[in-house]
Amino acid sequence: MERITVETRPIEGQKPGTSGLRKKTRTFIQPRYLENFVQSIWNAIGGVQGKSLVLGGDGRYFNDRAAQVILRMAAAGGAAKVIVGQGGLLSTPAASHLVRSRGADGGVILSASHNPGGPDADFGVKYNTANGGPAPEEVTERIFRATREISEYHIVEAQDIDLSTPGARQLAGMRIEVVDPVADYQALMETLFDFDAIRGLFRGGFTMRFDAMHAVTGPYARAILEGALDAPAGSVVNAIPSPDFGGGHPDPNPIWARPLLDLMMGAQAPDFGAASDGDGDRNMIVGRGVYVTPSDSLAVLAANAHLAPGYAAGLKGVARSMSTSRAVDRVAEKLRIDCYETPTGWKFFGNLLDAGRVTLCGEESAGTGSDHVREKDGLWAVLLWLNILAVKRQPVQRILDDHWAAFGRNYYSRHDYEALDPVVAGDMLDALRARLPDLPGQDVDGLRIESADEFAYDDPVDGSRAQGQGIRIGLAGDARIVFRLSGTGTEGATLRIYLERFEPGTGALHRDPGAALAPIGAVAESLSGIRARTGRESPDVVT
Ligand code: G1P
Ligand code: ZN
Repeated sequence: MERITVETRPIEGQKPGTSGLRKKTRTFIQPRYLENFVQSIWNAIGGVQGKSLVLGGDGRYFNDRAAQVILRMAAAGGAAKVIVGQGGLLSTPAASHLVRSRGADGGVILSASHNPGGPDADFGVKYNTANGGPAPEEVTERIFRATREISEYHIVEAQDIDLSTPGARQLAGMRIEVVDPVADYQALMETLFDFDAIRGLFRGGFTMRFDAMHAVTGPYARAILEGALDAPAGSVVNAIPSPDFGGGHPDPNPIWARPLLDLMMGAQAPDFGAASDGDGDRNMIVGRGVYVTPSDSLAVLAANAHLAPGYAAGLKGVARSMSTSRAVDRVAEKLRIDCYETPTGWKFFGNLLDAGRVTLCGEESAGTGSDHVREKDGLWAVLLWLNILAVKRQPVQRILDDHWAAFGRNYYSRHDYEALDPVVAGDMLDALRARLPDLPGQDVDGLRIESADEFAYDDPVDGSRAQGQGIRIGLAGDARIVFRLSGTGTEGATLRIYLERFEPGTGALHRDPGAALAPIGAVAESLSGIRARTGRESPDVVT
């Protein structure tokens, strides 16, 4: 086996975004593209000599090939050991757990999350640090810098490693441990939740559907829900990961998980519905006849987490991304715990979790998690809901109704405009940014603007500052609009507009969110002029 050095030169645009480097698969499979980026990770972290790493991905097209390349490059770099999921598979939260539980130095996750997979779709590579969480900005910047300076990469010439069965392998002196992707993760879930109580729920006739969307959580959900918790066989659907996610878009939201939503709104609805995304870190929660927004789910989980054994001692604090609705803030206030507002992206929760300042955190984009790992965790959220349902024995709708009555309801919706011309989108936000100082005090479409700024975050743990994290407009009556550009899109620019409006617990709690938010949407249009600037009549996706 020969370790070879290949001359290369920097490739434009290898800049990690909100969640790793995400590009069109066609881009990733170009010669040297993956190799350059992986070598740049190694270079940015001071090499992998003597280190141990975790490796796995969501099974999308090119996952298998990329895993082999990364193993050969880890061996060439002198890594001591790589722990890799069987078949090259690991959900993002399971990878995070393995990094932590095995004391690995880091992990490489192959995924473009909820983006479609296939030769004409998307691929991605994320690097996680020793705490199990996404590399913080300072590390991703170093990686980006390394991509611009690279002149060679190192790889060993070898046959593919057999990843089809668990066991020990060797590659040029490097140890490879192929592990069952589910086992350690399942053991962790058993420490957090009352499996007996949830089993009791199912044995009592409780029904659910979990839609794995042909993505990585299929095997996890089968083993845990149907295997360990006695959910009826067939409760988990689309459970076999496929390279193109069955031709679908593995994003658990009302648009892309439409079949689940339709089932849950129909006469044959089971008691509970849930879905997860490509790499298993997102979740969607649906009760019979009721969709639970991720922001509401975070708030309900925060208010009820103590019902699960892993959280019986209460929460240290909670955190949410700035654009997530402020429903959880109200819970934190009542519980008298701290609530942190961070920029978009799970990496910003890492320090708060590591420092023991927060136990639960979440994002409006279907991400919820806790200090059990350093990633959001789709199946974990489903299990926490199930644990709460097993204790309360109430329908999801009732739990939501009681929650809104106690805390009020934050009507909330996100409007996405996809594949915009980046120049047009940038100009639009620049124009709005320029007006921010003058907006407070103005009335727009009959609503008073109370505050207007661009969000910057000072990390209370390490003092780092993240700027330009979204424009926020505060309106009278505790309403709010946030504008920001996506950092995960692979085509043009995606503009996200987040609309929110608070209704007290004594008010109208069961309005259609679209109607309740229409006046806020009108202000967003007046302030930004999206229609005129982009020619778009309406958003591409409303969640
Ligand atoms: C999106 C979500 C964000 C999430 C990220 C990775 O990022 O908005 O909450 O952390 O995907 O799953 P965005 O495209 O908005 O930058
Ligand atoms: Zn994901």
